[in-house]
Amino acid sequence: MRIVKVPLGNRSYDIKIGTGLLARIGRECAHLGLSRRCTIISDRHVAPRYATVVREALASAGFAPGLITIPAGETAKSLKVLASCYDQLAAQRLERKSFIVALGGGVVGDLAGFVAATYLRGLPFIQVPTTLLAQVDSSVGGKVGLNLKAGKNLVGAFYQPRLVLCDLATLASLPMREYRAGLGEVIKYGIIYDGRLFGRLERDLPKLLRRGPRTLAAVVARCCEIKAEVVRQDETESGLRAILNFGHTIGHALEAISHYGKYLHGEAIAIGQVAAAKLSAQLLGLPASEVQRIERLFQRAGLPTRLNLNAPAKRKLLAAMTLDKKVSAGEIKFVLARRIGAAEFGHQIPAALLAGAINPQPSTRNR
Ligand SMILES: NC(=O)c1ccc[n+]([C@@H]2O[C@H](COP(=O)([O-])OP(=O)(O)OC[C@H]3O[C@@H](n4cnc5c(N)ncnc54)[C@H](O)[C@@H]3O)[C@@H](O)[C@H]2O)c1
Ligand SMILES: [Zn+2]
Repeated sequence: MRIVKVPLGNRSYDIKIGTGLLARIGRECAHLGLSRRCTIISDRHVAPRYATVVREALASAGFAPGLITIPAGETAKSLKVLASCYDQLAAQRLERKSFIVALGGGVVGDLAGFVAATYLRGLPFIQVPTTLLAQVDSSVGGKVGLNLKAGKNLVGAFYQPRLVLCDLATLASLPMREYRAGLGEVIKYGIIYDGRLFGRLERDLPKLLRRGPRTLAAVVARCCEIKAEVVRQDETESGLRAILNFGHTIGHALEAISHYGKYLHGEAIAIGQVAAAKLSAQLLGLPASEVQRIERLFQRAGLPTRLNLNAPAKRKLLAAMTLDKKVSAGEIKFVLARRIGAAEFGHQIPAALLAGAINPQPSTRNR
């Protein structure tokens, strides 16, 4: 088992990464000195597969776990599902010292984390991420929240878990497309922070695509270390943490204009990162050979890298970018890379360059 520490003073916690960790969750929670009563929040895809082992492991360590199952997918991050979780917690008589276990992907982690942050003014919670994206990204760092009709993640909090337990064995049942989407975030860490990780991904991608446990453990741990380091330096995103949004301004806009139906998040940010790499070449001198390596790695991971938008769709995309949460006073600030392994936040992009970057293919006339 690998352990990555997230050092945040009295809110510090460990991320434990390994195979077969679900069955150890009871012992892990016992070390944390949590009270008996707890509730697992999971979704309809994950609960049938993994809730029983988690429940039994908790029960055999003396805990009394309840279970709340929410619908699968992004629509579960809603006020309606939130209210139903509160009602069920009340029915299960959770108390101030009871705790919550978030068992699932980023949707479950974000929603269950927000429930934990707010029910009885805050209960301890444990993240048990079961998607690659959740293991390397959403379960670490304490951003929790839900969506409104007006937009994604508009309600939320910074609320750190007490422990993150990444059982790599759960990834075996993850659909390939979801797994590849998680690789979109994995590659991001290489680009923004660690050129050696990027090199390793280039070399070990075939093993990673086969979900080889040793490669996966090393890569997930390195991504968690990077996220932990960035969050340690800037927990509430007043600066550095923004580098985690490399490729996300374009990615989020693309998700929004396609109504969150066409692209998975990891797919949209793959396109966004390639566009951001091209902008980085124009504005910061990122070498063309590195732009190519970036595009090639996303392609080899089976992720989309380009868009071919008609003029109205392009206008919509540009408009959507100015609505992104990260926009302040109407200025679009970008994360750009100077080289693979080093990103910078806060670059303003001239509108003409931006328009070029989102549709880089030469347009064919009369089409
Ligand atoms: N809090 C953060 O810092 C942060 C960061 C990135 C993303 N997010 C959020 O994360 C969410 C996306 O997370 P996601 O990509 O994990 O999506 P998800 O939670 O919707 O999971 C994807 C799909 O895989 C299923 N699934 C999960 N684990 C499985 C397993 N082991 N086997 C089989 N099926 C499984 C789920 O039921 C779902 O259908 C978004 O809402 C996004 O906003 C949050
Ligand atoms: Zn992301």
